[in-house]
This record gives sequence, C-alpha cells and structure tokens, in this order.
Amino acid sequence: MKILQVSAELFPLLKTGGLADVAGALPRALLAAGQDVRVLLPGFPAIRDGVADAVQVAELEAPWGERARLRLGRIGTEGGPDLRAYWIDAPWLYDRPGNPYEDAQRQPYQDNHRRFALLGFAAARIAHGLDPGWQPQVLHAHDWHAALAPAYMAFSPRRGPQRVGSVFTVHNLAYQGLFAPWHFADLGLPAAAWGIDGLEYHGQLSFMKGGLGFADRITTVSPTYAREIQTPEQGCGLDGLLRRRAGVLSGILNGVDDQVWNPATDALLPHPFEPGQLAGKMRCKAALQTQLGLAPEALAPLFVVVSRLTEQKGLHLVLGGLDALLAQGGQLALLGSGDAWLEQAFRERAAAAPRSVSVTLGYNEPLAHRLFGAGDVTLVPSLFEPCGLTQMYGLKYGSLPLVHRVGGLADTVVDATLEDMADGRATGFCFETFDAEGFARALRRAFALYRRPADWDAVRASAMGRPADWRGAAARYLDIYAQALA
Ligand code: ADP
Ligand code: GLC
Repeated sequence: MKILQVSAELFPLLKTGGLADVAGALPRALLAAGQDVRVLLPGFPAIRDGVADAVQVAELEAPWGERARLRLGRIGTEGGPDLRAYWIDAPWLYDRPGNPYEDAQRQPYQDNHRRFALLGFAAARIAHGLDPGWQPQVLHAHDWHAALAPAYMAFSPRRGPQRVGSVFTVHNLAYQGLFAPWHFADLGLPAAAWGIDGLEYHGQLSFMKGGLGFADRITTVSPTYAREIQTPEQGCGLDGLLRRRAGVLSGILNGVDDQVWNPATDALLPHPFEPGQLAGKMRCKAALQTQLGLAPEALAPLFVVVSRLTEQKGLHLVLGGLDALLAQGGQLALLGSGDAWLEQAFRERAAAAPRSVSVTLGYNEPLAHRLFGAGDVTLVPSLFEPCGLTQMYGLKYGSLPLVHRVGGLADTVVDATLEDMADGRATGFCFETFDAEGFARALRRAFALYRRPADWDAVRASAMGRPADWRGAAARYLDIYAQALA
C-alpha cells in the first residue's frame, strides 16, 4: 500500500516529545512490513538539513498566494531501507531557530495558522497527485499540525479519479491548534467548512476539528484514551464530536522502537544489559550517580523522571512527595524542561539536597537513555496521558514505572498487587486517585517491594519482558488504512 505520513516532527531529525518518536518509528515499521511509505514534513532547519539528496518535485501556491516548493529526499535508516521524505521549502515560514512552534520567549509564532495550514494543504495536494512520480492511496496525518489535510482533501476541487483514504491520529487532544476566526479566510476553504460541523470551535478556528470531522478513520494512541476522550471530563470540548464518530475511532497503543530503545544494544548506555543479565544495569546506576553527583549508594532506590514539565505530567505530586521519598532512603534524578515554576521548584530541591536530588533542565537525549538505564523506578504521575512512552522505556530498561492509572499508562503498566505478582503479570505501580495520598501510597509500595529483592527481580523481569515492538501496531494501522480506503 502507498502511504503518506504527515507530521510536524520526526525522530531523529526533530523532536519535542513522543509525537516525534512515533512519527519516526511507524513509517520504518511499515517499510519493514513491505509497504511503500513516504513522509511529509515542514521545512524546519533540522528537517532541511537532515533529509539527504533533496530535489524539487513540484511547486505549490499556498491558499493565500505565496509560492512554496516541494522537495523530496531520503532519511537514512540504520539496518533498513531509506525513508523517502518530502519537505515543504518555504523558508519565510519555517526557517527559524529553536522550537518549531514557539519563539525564544516561548510564545506561539503569530503565523502558526499559515505554517501548519500549508502542511495540511501540501499533504492534500500530494494525495491528489501533485507529485507526478508518486501518489499515495492513504494519507495519515498526526495531531493538529497536520489536521487540516483531511479537510482539504474533503473540500478539494482537484480530486483525481482515484479515491484516497485519510486517517487522523490524535496524540494529545489538549493541543488543538486554536486560532482567531478571521484566519479562516486565509485557508482557502469554502464557507461550508466553517460552522459547528466544520472547523469552528466556540467561535474560534480549530485545526484539530479538521482531522476529527473529515478523516475517514480516527485513531488515538491507546485504547483507554480512545474511551476517555469520548467523555466530557477528558474530551476537551470535543467529546460530542468524538462520540458521533465513535464508529470510526479506535485506539492503537504505540510501540517502542527497538533500534533506539534497547538496553542490550543502546550505545548511549555506559554498560549494556538485558533481562536476566543485570550487572550492566547496576554499573549504569553507579556511573549515573557519579555523573550527577548523587551519593554512590547501590541500594538507594533511584527514581527517575524524563518529562516535559507541564501540568499534564502531574509533577507537583513528585514535588509534594519528595520529602517522603528522601525519608525512605530514595534518590531522585529528573530531566525535563517546561513551565518556569516547575523548573524553579525542582532546581531549589536539588540545590537543597544535591547528594540525593539531581535536576537537569533542558533537552538531553543521551541523558534520557542513561536515566532509564540506571533507574529503579520511572515516575509518570500524569493527570492524563494519551499513551506515554517514558513508562514503556522504563519497562524495557527495568526501571519500573510508577503511574497514575489513566490513558496509555493504564494500558501498559500492571500494578504490583499480590495476585498479579503471583500470576507473573505485575510490571510496576499504579495509583487511582490523582492526589498526594494516592501518589504517596504507590511510593510506599515501591519501597516495600524494593526491600524484597526476589520479588523486585520477578516484577522487573516481567516488565523487561513485556512485548512492545512496533510490528503489532503497524499491522493494526494497516487494517485501519484498508478501512479508510474501503
Ligand atoms: P509527551 O509526548 O507527552 O511529552 P511521551 O512520554 O509520549 O510524552 O514522550 C516523551 C518523549 O520525549 C520521550 O521520548 C522522552 O524520552 C522524551 N523527553 C521528554 N523530555 C525530555 C528531555 N528533557 N530530554 C530528552 N528527552 C526528553
Ligand atoms: C503525545 C502524548 C503522549 C504520547 C505521544 C506519542 O505527546 O502526550 O502520551 O505518548 O503523544 O503518541
């Protein structure tokens, strides 16, 4: 099948969160399954520089009149075929340093509606034959950045003889791409695309609704989140629309990219390890304690956090529970960046107890790997979590996840209850109520288990053995593509 995947990020070229990991891994899993996949990305500097041998394949005129070029090149893949990648050459929109969405003051760029409308527009044009050399059968758009693609396809006057299916994946319903209503005029869509059944959301312009309203099939990144977003509590005001489209909505759990996240082969770890052979993991822990200036205590349970520091991630619970964590003899190592108040609060805690709390602010891919490699417990107490990848990396690297039982966290972590331990299913620690007490009790359970090494080893073995590769997820996406085509 010929598939065009459309996203704003793609690991390893450009990443601000889990979207990039998925956008990088899924096409490669589809290639490995014998599919003809290409990707489309905005021409951000990191994309432009990371796509090799790019040649112009077409010109296109944005709905508001500016002329851009479509280029096609390839992204090399270790141990696999190259991935063919289109990018939109429009430097006045994309050639800006740093974060792809925000300026240096962390404010969204004023012209984001145009920057990402062009992504959806170009995608729809490719779907309808813009590149004379290749036309997809299915277009797969990710998140609000690409969400106008299905709307442009639905309203396109330039549709060819071949019907092209569209699939839209929600990675996070909380980020909707909302803009002032007058920007609708820029999009070049007919008046029928406005209104409650179109892109209007309480008087504003919603890119997300382009995907939710017009794609043939909608997916999200875990079965539990697929149910949650149909409720008023978690629907972000779109639950009604999602309930109406429930027949074409499904949840497909993300996988873990084995090429990037595998403790047996991970070149970013100082010592490799694998299930049943954990001497390397202990050495990773010792090395990390030294690197971060933590006390070199092999038996102090090491809790790690690798996260965006935003309200979604529930990290105020970690701050609130930190005294109890330290009192029970634990250490905390955090890597993250985001909201200023959280950065400041964690920085202060590290300054007050540098031998047991380490805080690294910023984005650091190698350190992320080392944290999972060294950790005993990975903390992911998110308020909501569409899928969550860090708990899966924690599982695979034997750093048992401690999670709030929501979304993808509920679908990937089995609490260490006596019965699930007896059945060999337990893989971590879950709490139900999103408050200090819920978190504190899960923390207690983690410490209690840690003091029982044989049980700890058994749970860790289950965690590390949990199957999580992308092959299964890719097969499910292929089913969805077939449905979108039908
Ligand atoms: P989200 O996409 O909501 O941020 P996920 O758990 O799905 O959450 O994915 C987060 C991804 O970003 C993971 O690959 C994680 O390792 C990575 N990550 C988050 N913060 C950092 C950071 N400060 N440095 C390096 N990697 C990070
Ligand atoms: C989003 C979600 C996260 C998910 C990721 C990849 O960023 O917040 O839960 O794992 O997308 O699908």
